[in-house]
Amino acid sequence: MSIVIPRERPASMRGAPAHQPETSAQARALECAPAPNRQIIVSNRLPYRVDVDGAGGISLSRSTGGLASALGPLHERSGNLWIGWAQDGEEHDAATTVRIDTALAERACMPIHLDEEDAALYYEGFSNSTLWPLFHGFPQSTRFDQQAWEAYVRVNERFCDAVAAVARAGDTVWIQDYHLMLLPALVRAALPGTHVGFFLHVPFPDYETFRMLPWRAECVRGVLGADLVGFHAYDYVRHFLSSCRRIAGLENRTGTMCVEGRLVQADAFPLGIDYERFRRAAQEPATQAACARLSEGPGHKGCKVMLSVERLDYAKGVPERLRAYRAFLSRHPEWRGRVVLVLVTVPSRENVASYQALKGEIDELVGLVNGEFATLAWTPIDYYYRSLPFESLVSLYAASDVMLVTPLRDGMNLVCKEYLACHDGRGGVLVLSEMAGAACELQEALVVNPFDQEGLVRAMERALSMPEREQRRRNAPMQRRLARCTSQKWAREFLDALGAVKARQDAQRARLLGPAAADRLAEAFGAARRRAILLDYDGTLMPFRDDPAQVRPDAALVDTLRRLGACAANAVVVVSGRGRDTLEEWLGSLPVCLVAEHGAWVCDRPQGTWRLQEPMAADWKDGVREVLDGFVDRTPGAFLEEKDCSLVWHYRACSPEVAERRIVEIKGMLAETLEGRGLALMDGNKVIEVKPRGIDKGRAASRWLSDPSFDFLLAAGDDRTDEDVFEAAPQGAWTIHVGGGPTAARYALEGPAEMRALLHTLASLSS
Ligand code: UDP
Ligand code: G6P
Repeated sequence: MSIVIPRERPASMRGAPAHQPETSAQARALECAPAPNRQIIVSNRLPYRVDVDGAGGISLSRSTGGLASALGPLHERSGNLWIGWAQDGEEHDAATTVRIDTALAERACMPIHLDEEDAALYYEGFSNSTLWPLFHGFPQSTRFDQQAWEAYVRVNERFCDAVAAVARAGDTVWIQDYHLMLLPALVRAALPGTHVGFFLHVPFPDYETFRMLPWRAECVRGVLGADLVGFHAYDYVRHFLSSCRRIAGLENRTGTMCVEGRLVQADAFPLGIDYERFRRAAQEPATQAACARLSEGPGHKGCKVMLSVERLDYAKGVPERLRAYRAFLSRHPEWRGRVVLVLVTVPSRENVASYQALKGEIDELVGLVNGEFATLAWTPIDYYYRSLPFESLVSLYAASDVMLVTPLRDGMNLVCKEYLACHDGRGGVLVLSEMAGAACELQEALVVNPFDQEGLVRAMERALSMPEREQRRRNAPMQRRLARCTSQKWAREFLDALGAVKARQDAQRARLLGPAAADRLAEAFGAARRRAILLDYDGTLMPFRDDPAQVRPDAALVDTLRRLGACAANAVVVVSGRGRDTLEEWLGSLPVCLVAEHGAWVCDRPQGTWRLQEPMAADWKDGVREVLDGFVDRTPGAFLEEKDCSLVWHYRACSPEVAERRIVEIKGMLAETLEGRGLALMDGNKVIEVKPRGIDKGRAASRWLSDPSFDFLLAAGDDRTDEDVFEAAPQGAWTIHVGGGPTAARYALEGPAEMRALLHTLASLSS
C-alpha cells in the first residue's frame, strides 16, 4: 500500500449557493471593490478555477501554481479586485456565464471570457508554446506562429478593455506574468492616470535567446508601459535591461530608464511564501497524525521518504531526476528497500503537445524504475498525477526526509520554500537546483546542477545520510530568512517601490516646462530688452542618428534660427561639441554665433573668422590616436573623429556591452598618458572625448551668461557637457534640459521636437 492522498476538493464553496440571480459581473465586481485607489491585480489565471457540471452547477476551487499562491493573500486580505481569464475551458450559454460571473464577483474576481479559438491560440499557443519555452531556455521546442501572436495581441486588448471598464484614475493596476506583456502599454494609453506595475514570474532570458522572438520589440515596448517592472532575481533584471538597451536603445542608471520622457524602473523582488501559514499547519495535531500514518504506512515503514512535487512541466526536470534516482538505486544497493520517492505531478497545460509527451515519458520512466527494483514488500516510486489540497501537501512536506527540487529552469520556485517552512525547527534536507531563482536565497541547501546526473546521485546519497544536526544547522538560517521575506512583504515592497517611482515621476513632471511656465518664459522674453539664447545642437535642436554626418539641420530649424537671430535684441549662440567645419557648413550663413569643440573655437558673425580661445599644443594627439585607433579596430561599429583640439571615440553603433567594456579599458590605458599633460577625458552622449583640460561649454558660455546687459538668458542642452552651462548660469536664467535624467537645469522638455516648438514661439515673438 502506498500513501493515501485525497482527491482534490473544491476549497472555497462552503456556503456558496450554486445558482445566483442574474446580474452584471462588472457591476458585481465593482460592488465588492472598496472605494478609491484600489489595487487591481490582473493575471491570466484567476485565483479560482471554475468547474461547470452537466447540470450547469458551478464550483470554484483554488488555482495551483506560484502566481496564485503568491497573490492570494494580498487579494483576500485587502478585498482588492482581481481580473483574469475565467479559464473554464469551454463556451457556455448566457445564463451559465452570468452565474460564473456572479460566483467569481462574490470573491472579488472579474472574469474575462474568451472564445475557444482565441483561448487556444493565446494560452496554449503564444503563451505556452512560444514564451514559456523560450523564456525557460528551450528554444528548440519554441513555436513561432503568426496566428498565435495575433491572438495574443487580441487577448491583451480584451484584458485592457476589462481593466478600462473598472479602473479609475489613482488606482494601481498590477499586471502579472508573461501572458500579458503587452498590457502595461495598452493600459497606460487607455488610462494615463493609473499606476501600472508589471511582474514577470518566469526568467527573462539573455538577449541572445530573446532576440529569436520575432515580436521582441512589441513585447519590450509593451512591458515598458509599466512604471515599475519586477523580476524574481537580479539576473533577469540584467537580461531585461540588456534587451531594452539593444531593442529600444534605452540606457539605464541602476535600473532606471527614461521612456519617452517617463521614468521607468526595473528591479528584483524575490517572492516569498506565507511562511506562518505553512509553519502553523505543519504543527497542527492533525498534520502530525497524518505524518505518522504516512511514515508508518506499509509501503514506507522503515524507509526514508524523498519527495518531489510540481506541475507536470518539462522545465521542472522530472525525467532527469528519475534517471538520477535510477542510477542512485543501481549504484547504492544498500538503499534499496530503505528509501521511497514520492512523486507528485500536478496536471498542467494538458492540451499542449510537449506536456502530453512529457506525461508519457514520466509514466514510462516510473514504470521502468519500479519494474527494475520493486520487491513484493517495497516499491521505489509512489507516483501521483493530480493536484493536492493544502492539508495533504503540508502533511507530505512535513513527513518527508528529503525534498528534491531540481528544475532545469524556474523563475523562482515556491515548493522548496514551503517545504522548509513545514520543517521549521526540525531537520529535513532540501536538494535544490541552481537553476531555480530560489537558489540565490537558499544557499545552505544542497545545491545541484540538474543536468549533472552524477551530481544528483551524490546529492541524494548525501541528503539521505546527513546527520540530523547538520540538517538543522543548514535549515535554520534559510528558515529565518523565509520567515522574514514573506509573500506579504514581497507585495508590500513592490507596491511601495511603485509608489516611490510615481513620486519620482511627479518630481520630474514638476520640472517639465508645462504651459504655465512656458507662458511665463514667453512673457519674460517679450518684456526683455536684450536676450541671450544659448543652444546645444545634437539632441537639443536635432534628434540623434547613428551617423553624425546625417544630422544636418532641416529647413524648419534653419528658418526658426534665422528669424530668432535676425532680431537685433537677440544674441543666438549655438554651443556645440562639433568641429568648426561642420558648424560653418550647416549654420554658417545664419545670424547666429557659433561655438565649436565645446568652446575651443568661437565665430561671432555669419561667415566671420573663427578664433581659437586659447593657444593649445597638439603634440599629444599621435600617441592618443594610436591607442584609440586600436580600439576602433577591436570594436565593430566604433569610429574615431578628429577635431582641431580633440579626439573623439564614437560608439553609438556598437554593441552596448562591448562598448561599456572598451570604455573602461580605454580609460585605464589612457590614464597615465593624460596625467600631467593638461588633458582630460570626457564622457559625452555615446562618445568619449580627449581634449585639453579647461575647455568646456560652461566656460565658453560665461561670456554671455555673465554679461549684465542681457536681461533674459536661456540655455538649453541635453547631455553631460551642457551641465557645465547650466551650472555657470545665474539664478534667474531659463535653463532647460532636453530629455530625461538628472540635471542641474531648472526645467526640462521631453525632446528636440518640444524644444523646437518653444523656439518657434520665441521666434514669432521676436519679429
Ligand atoms: N501546489 C498546490 N497543489 C499541488 C501542488 C502544488 O497548490 O498539488 C502549489 C504549491 O503549494 C506552490 C505552487 O503550487 O505554491 C507551485 O509554485 P512554484 O513556484 O513552485 O511552481 P509553478 O507551478 O509556479 O511553476
Ligand atoms: C507559473 C506561471 C504562472 C502560472 C503557473 C501555473 O507559475 O508563472 O503564471 O499561473 O505557472 O500555470 P498555468 O498555465 O496552469 O496557469
